[in-house]
Amino acid sequence: MPRYAHIIGWGKYVPPNILTNADLAKKVDTTDEWIRERTGIHQRHIASAKETTALLALHAAREAVEVADVNPQDIDLVIVATATPEYLFPATACLVQNALGAERAGAFDLEAGCSGFVYALATATALIRSEMYNTVLVVGAETLSRILDWSDRATCVLFGDGAGAVMVRGSDQPGGILSTILGSDGSGGELLMVPGGGSKHPAGPDTVLSKQHFVKMNGREVYRFATRVMAQAARQAVDKAGWQLDQIDLFLPHQANVRIIDSAAKSLKIPPEKVFVNLERYGNTSAASIPIALCEALDTGKIKPGSNLVMVGFGAGLTWASCAIKWTAPQPGTPAPQRAAVSRLRYIWSGIKSFGFQLSRHIDAAVSKTIDGIERKPSEE
Ligand code: COA
Repeated sequence: MPRYAHIIGWGKYVPPNILTNADLAKKVDTTDEWIRERTGIHQRHIASAKETTALLALHAAREAVEVADVNPQDIDLVIVATATPEYLFPATACLVQNALGAERAGAFDLEAGCSGFVYALATATALIRSEMYNTVLVVGAETLSRILDWSDRATCVLFGDGAGAVMVRGSDQPGGILSTILGSDGSGGELLMVPGGGSKHPAGPDTVLSKQHFVKMNGREVYRFATRVMAQAARQAVDKAGWQLDQIDLFLPHQANVRIIDSAAKSLKIPPEKVFVNLERYGNTSAASIPIALCEALDTGKIKPGSNLVMVGFGAGLTWASCAIKWTAPQPGTPAPQRAAVSRLRYIWSGIKSFGFQLSRHIDAAVSKTIDGIERKPSEE
């Protein structure tokens, strides 16, 4: 019997701090008008020093766990798609796995730039369909603000911080993630990159002084690439799912630039009401943009059981990825604040359990040591 991979839970988190275009115009030579006209962005959320990628990921993940009503112990694998991990290693996914109390789960990060979330979703789908795993948590989380050159107006106006997560579970019920497409053209790698900090240009005074740890981008070329691949990747996912383009109920594209989205939608003949856009409030949150859009589309009732969804991501690599989903999850009955409260309680409980476990190990070690000591004593006497 074929296995299907269904999204059964979702969650998002964006830092509360908002940076508007007008705020940016005070820092660099730009205007609100230029940014809106060229990109569609009005504002973006920026993480505070304490809000790291793992923390953003964890907030979104907890909500997804709660909506899915899954015990963290039942999670088989955690994948975090990110281009701005907590550390070079360990993987951000391991930090999320530990904080969630997903003690049985494997964990790894996936780096495919802004396509990362759909890449991770495709990976989860393949692992579930092959019956290697049954419950996979997929997170897209970014703190792009940490790697932006805030004096470069061509890049710093485009990006924002945030996280989104989904719980994917196997079932015999047809539907869910029906097709996935992954693509790469490494010849365009230098069009969008952070050159410093890797094995080619290890971090040092020179790389810092020459700003090699910041995003470098050829905006025009990336734009050209994006308008070409977005429609093409959407068509491929639709074909592979056995659908026609007019069967798409909601198009959830990577939220980088409204002009790129409009161009793809026009080429695919998808009317504006079937295209989800929220980049005006978040900017480009890279691997987090599609799961954040998914959560908002669900919250606003744009997705119903039976809806046909198409997601398309593109980004550094250069990479692209798309998928077609027959939505099967029912609307969540519990309101979001309640879900978040329950999720926090679960989190505290898993912390207490973990503390208890550590404590019992210490007590065990102390008792063993004492017993060893007592056992040794008679022979010494
Ligand atoms: N404010 C004001 N002017 C700006 C500016 C800003 N923030 N950024 C660039 N400019 C200037 C440029 O210096 C240039 O001036 P010049 O003509 O005097 O040289 C002019 O605006 C036009 O620049 P250009 O790069 O041609 O603009 P554009 O219409 O291509 O828009 C982007 C620039 C970055 C918005 C657009 O290329 C884009 O969205 N590319 C894709 C980027 C992307 O999505 N990256 C992430 C992929 S995941």
